[in-house]
Amino acid sequence: MEKFYITTPLYYVNAEPHLGHAYTNIAADTIARYMRRILGVHNVWFLTGTDEHGQKIERAARELNLIPQEFVDKMVLKFKELWEKLNISYDDFIRTTEPRHVKFVEKVLEILFKKGDIYLSDYQGWYCIPCETFWTESNSDNLCPDCKRPLERIKEKNYFFRLSKYQDWLLDYIEKHPDFIKPPSRYGEVLSFLNLNRLNDLCISRPKDRLSWGIPIPFSKEHVTYVWFDALMNYISAVGYFDDNERYISKWWPAEIQLIGKDILRQHAIYWPIILNALGIQSPKTIFAHGWWMVGESKMSKSKGNIVSPFEVISQYSVDALRYFLLREVSFGMDGIFSEEAILRRYNSDLANDLGNLVYRVVNMIEKYFGLQIPQEIDMKNLDDLTNKLLIKMEDLVKKEPFYLQLPAVNFNDALENIWDLINTANKYIEDKKPWILSRENRIVELRNFVATLVKVLNKIAELISPFMPQTSNSILEQIGKNSLKKGLPLFPRIDPKY
Ligand code: ME8
Ligand code: MG
Repeated sequence: MEKFYITTPLYYVNAEPHLGHAYTNIAADTIARYMRRILGVHNVWFLTGTDEHGQKIERAARELNLIPQEFVDKMVLKFKELWEKLNISYDDFIRTTEPRHVKFVEKVLEILFKKGDIYLSDYQGWYCIPCETFWTESNSDNLCPDCKRPLERIKEKNYFFRLSKYQDWLLDYIEKHPDFIKPPSRYGEVLSFLNLNRLNDLCISRPKDRLSWGIPIPFSKEHVTYVWFDALMNYISAVGYFDDNERYISKWWPAEIQLIGKDILRQHAIYWPIILNALGIQSPKTIFAHGWWMVGESKMSKSKGNIVSPFEVISQYSVDALRYFLLREVSFGMDGIFSEEAILRRYNSDLANDLGNLVYRVVNMIEKYFGLQIPQEIDMKNLDDLTNKLLIKMEDLVKKEPFYLQLPAVNFNDALENIWDLINTANKYIEDKKPWILSRENRIVELRNFVATLVKVLNKIAELISPFMPQTSNSILEQIGKNSLKKGLPLFPRIDPKY
């Protein structure tokens, strides 16, 4: 593979980031690290950023008596702080208020207007401010079909993008590209939606007297750009430009994979490829819509007031414990329920008991039996059955290793399960070989072989977990990755339940 471009959504900065936002960026970071470190792809480009225009942001700023720009400048720092804490190895961070993005969006609007794909028309209908979404017809209770919050009635002149014109193209495209939308359940959902409904054209402007916090429409003094149209463009504004013939040029596009949550599937699987197609630009290879973290029965979200702060989880359990939990607990694409009990259980069993314990035992045996000198050489001619079994298990995993995330399906939890199988086999190996007996009976060659085998396996484990838990991986390699031992603190000290 020559290059690999991966993106996350641009998060709204109306409130601080929560666990749901952390989830997508941890997932994207794990894939990016896997491509760089495990698959050895040199050109990996990982983009994340913030969505800073629109009514939601304008209102949030007003509540704090700030002008929108001041407000977003302040809020974006919270996101950057979280990504730093979580070791998110992004290559670029784009804000939709940056000039490079604003100019690009203006250019796109001009191209599409000239082409006749954007036109002016009357608009009458319902609008959901939290979702920033128009609804042509409202149900009797005037609630948003998506989020169930009250809709507002709106009547105004606006610009529209000819979404409807491209419906047949999109249907055909999706049918011919089974990897375009993942997982398969979401693929089926989009396909049946397109088969059962006619698309309406997309309203892509807002009158300035109602909303001024947006990118000006270049061909109208009275309108700014609809925040979704603005924000979607980030994925290409960050990595390309238009030449004099209005051809799009980019080293990175099309993206190999774009991660989103299933809440924004319609915008990414329908609007996005159609806008790109109208511009003569290829679609991304894969849109992966993951599931939701729930608290009890409902989606974790700011508006429901049930959010979990990733900062708090980190201070209680550590960064890598959070990363591990989110990627191990549910298969990517499904919903998961977040609870203290669930993360504590994973922490104590998988991290403290299995991995932490293995590292602790190996480090202590090196110290006790060999001082600081780490035994490295395995005498391959004299391997007993147990040692052989463990090494074969490791080799089998390494053979699977280049494919362990199985992109574009993305299999975090299976990959971790396989790595943990090796960890548990190594722990069992220690129990079965009974090193204290080898030592007591002075079987030094056997003891050396035994510890060298464990060192080798543990080095491999550190490499395999590095995309998921970069800090833990580094810490293991610092302790036993060189010739002499550098004992560190226990990786995951047990935590007692509070209840
Ligand atoms: O939608 N579980 O921004 P947003 C899992 N600005 N993931 C969750 C989640 C949850 N409970 N809650 C949020 C927007 N997410 C737009 C996107 S893109 C051009 C513009 C994650 O701040 C998930 O990735 O509402 C979801 O799609 C995203 O945050 C929505 O973030
Ligand atoms: Mg949202």
